[in-house]
Amino acid sequence: MTSAKRFTEPLIAWQKSAGRHDLPWQNTRDPYRIWLSEIMLQQTQVTTVIPYYQRFLDSFPEVAALAAAPIDRVIEHWAGLGYYARARNLHRCAQRIVAEHGGEFPQTAEQLAEMPGIGRSTAAAIAAFAFGQRSAILDGNVKRVLCRQFGIAGFPGATAVDRKLWQLAESLLPERDIAAYTQGLMDLGATCCTRSRPNCPVCPVAEACIARRDQRQAELPTARPRPTIPERESSFVLFSDGQRLLLERRPPTGLWGGLLVPPEGSPEEAAARLGLLIREQRAMAPLKHAFTHFRLTLRPVLCLVERQNAVAEAGREWLEIARAADAGVPTPIRKLLRQVAGTAQCQLALI
Ligand code: ADE
Repeated sequence: MTSAKRFTEPLIAWQKSAGRHDLPWQNTRDPYRIWLSEIMLQQTQVTTVIPYYQRFLDSFPEVAALAAAPIDRVIEHWAGLGYYARARNLHRCAQRIVAEHGGEFPQTAEQLAEMPGIGRSTAAAIAAFAFGQRSAILDGNVKRVLCRQFGIAGFPGATAVDRKLWQLAESLLPERDIAAYTQGLMDLGATCCTRSRPNCPVCPVAEACIARRDQRQAELPTARPRPTIPERESSFVLFSDGQRLLLERRPPTGLWGGLLVPPEGSPEEAAARLGLLIREQRAMAPLKHAFTHFRLTLRPVLCLVERQNAVAEAGREWLEIARAADAGVPTPIRKLLRQVAGTAQCQLALI
């Protein structure tokens, strides 16, 4: 048996015996009904779609009724399904089918894919279900099934991987039973080869599955590559006079805008700027904090100081060590201040 048949034959048999057969858009070859279901199912779960689908068909039972309806009525029927571009394209597509195709759906995937809102995979699904055409679907669920079954690594959204998957999907198409095969792929992805915790013991193609053989179900398909987050470092000086800590208010804009933080920079520079005399200093353990767009390593130095000509400027505050953490300080600084207060090292250990 070819490797394609090793995949398609058990899948078709499984679809017939264990797949879904009673969804409202099955057991029909009406392209209008099939098209509507495929558009509704593009970003939405089956259970959500079912009541919308039925209400929609009650109001617009055929493509001519949909084409003739005002767009606002169509949108009303879509309200709650989300991704409203789908409803606008649906309406446009219905109008073109009436105006350009005499109200009959085109019968090939290539022609269907020319219509508004119908991508390559949706076109293939409609062509397979309505017209029995051999054409390959490849939505997110099918990509997952194929990546696992054939051990295809690399992010499926990457052009090269996408191309490879389309080629593979085309090469697998069976000679017969295209509708059962297409539905089988969808059913397998939705009910068995799920994103997390796939149910391999009931899978009809588990025997030949590379991901299962190598226990790589959790790694395939490969996740989108994470953008590398820049790393930054910043030195902070915790100036203590034995009872209190010095904090400075940040300018209103930028990182930690308007919050209180310990002076930044080296102890010597900061002490000179602030009119302080350092008696002792000790580096504390660095602290990491993740922001959305970068990671910051804070390097704190604890300094016992004498407040010489202690310049009392606006925006500078000497706060009691135990209370400093509860002032308006950023989260990583609060952690640091709690640590300092907890060990009381600024009062005792240095002296
Ligand atoms: N998702 C997309 N198309 C589907 C279909 N025909 N049946 C079930 N789920 C689907």
